Amino acid sequence: MSEKNLMQKIADSNKSVISGVDDLDIELWIKIYFLGREYRVPAGLTIMQALEYAGYFLTRSCGCRAGFCGACSTVYRIKGEYKLQFAMACQAEAMDGMYLVQLPFAPAEKRVYSLDHEEYSANTLLKYYPEIARCLSCNTCTKSCPQGIEVMDYINAALRGDYKQVAELSFDCIQCGLCAIRCPADIVHYNVAQLARRLYGKYGMPQVKNLNERATEIEEGVYQGEFDHLVALSNDELKKLYVEQQKNKEVY
Ligand code: SF4
Ligand code: SF4
Ligand code: FES
Repeated sequence: MSEKNLMQKIADSNKSVISGVDDLDIELWIKIYFLGREYRVPAGLTIMQALEYAGYFLTRSCGCRAGFCGACSTVYRIKGEYKLQFAMACQAEAMDGMYLVQLPFAPAEKRVYSLDHEEYSANTLLKYYPEIARCLSCNTCTKSCPQGIEVMDYINAALRGDYKQVAELSFDCIQCGLCAIRCPADIVHYNVAQLARRLYGKYGMPQVKNLNERATEIEEGVYQGEFDHLVALSNDELKKLYVEQQKNKEVY
């Protein structure tokens, strides 16, 4: 996604739907249910916007509002349907007859490790996350993922110690936890993938000359003056600078 599209997407997703809406302008209404209560909301909103329209002020399970932070995991059932469904509230459209619950958190017990002292071998992933050996190959994790990631495949790659494949397959993970919530083997997939990506980044990826040079420059203080200048700016000056930079980017 280009920088411009990304910024536009974030700006659009943050437009308030609570204020300035006249009921007479709404052509189509739907009914949703949240914590057992019925609400009439305009059709075409995301779940998050619909809840805000219904009067909820969301400060938990709500972050970037643009599909990146993974905070807004939501469970719902459509009346008359057997299956529980899972979605990101800021991305999925609210549907008529949706019974909704937002999840306060996903299981996320991250193990403590130091990359400097770990072996670059399959044993390391198994040492910290032995539960990956219990994978039943049910593919529920893959079916749960709102990012369309082949989650089961990266867990299988983790078992083989194929760090490169785990890193590549899990690259778009937003750590929403929906895979972990549903895994019958209690695997916390995104933590496994995060450790694999970190180890691959440190030990598996080829060294990049320019990156090393830039890191050395930073350590030597080449950019310290620029950094001090930014820190000393007021909020308004920072905003102005940011807007100017965004304008310049659009030119390219
Ligand atoms: S949900 Fe759990 S057990 Fe099922 S395939 Fe995914 S990792 Fe394996
Ligand atoms: S891999 Fe799991 S945590 Fe990552 S985006 Fe997919 S469902 Fe969410
Ligand atoms: S609020 Fe960040 S992904 Fe939905």
